[in-house]
Amino acid sequence: MSELDRRQFLSRSWKWGLGFIGVAGVWTSWDLLRPGTPTGFGGVVRTVTADEVPEGGVVVVPAARAYLTKHEGEVIAIAEKCPHLGCRVAWCESSGEFECPCHGSAFNRLGEHRTGPSPRGMDRFPVVLEDGVVNVDTGALEDGAPPGSESIDEPKRGPSCAGGH
Ligand code: FES
Repeated sequence: MSELDRRQFLSRSWKWGLGFIGVAGVWTSWDLLRPGTPTGFGGVVRTVTADEVPEGGVVVVPAARAYLTKHEGEVIAIAEKCPHLGCRVAWCESSGEFECPCHGSAFNRLGEHRTGPSPRGMDRFPVVLEDGVVNVDTGALEDGAPPGSESIDEPKRGPSCAGGH
């Protein structure tokens, strides 16, 4: 290898090396700074397996501020916040209804409006099953159905927890 070839080789090697370091730096910075998928409330919350959600029953998921129920095999995530003025709606086992403690709105097991001042049924979150686990997307709230949209025939089972209606 002549002296000139050796100089050219070293010069190109340095340039390639610096270029590689630059690309690696940009890649690392992007990897650190890019927006990730948020987890926890406001993002996707991993909950229980679909098998743990009973048909006809309700599971409380505090991390998602939601309830899970199942209807005809489909898992439904219901936001616990009342569409009226935002109180936390509670599930009442004895009545088989969701009951808002603030102004008496009540909703059936699917969160559909039954009575009270709420302008609609309870809002819902989209659900995605991943390896049998229910992931609730709490960043994509969907409005509940308007009053008069009950789709299940599950009359009130018994006394209310709130002692109202
Ligand atoms: Fe629920 Fe008013 S906040 S009925």
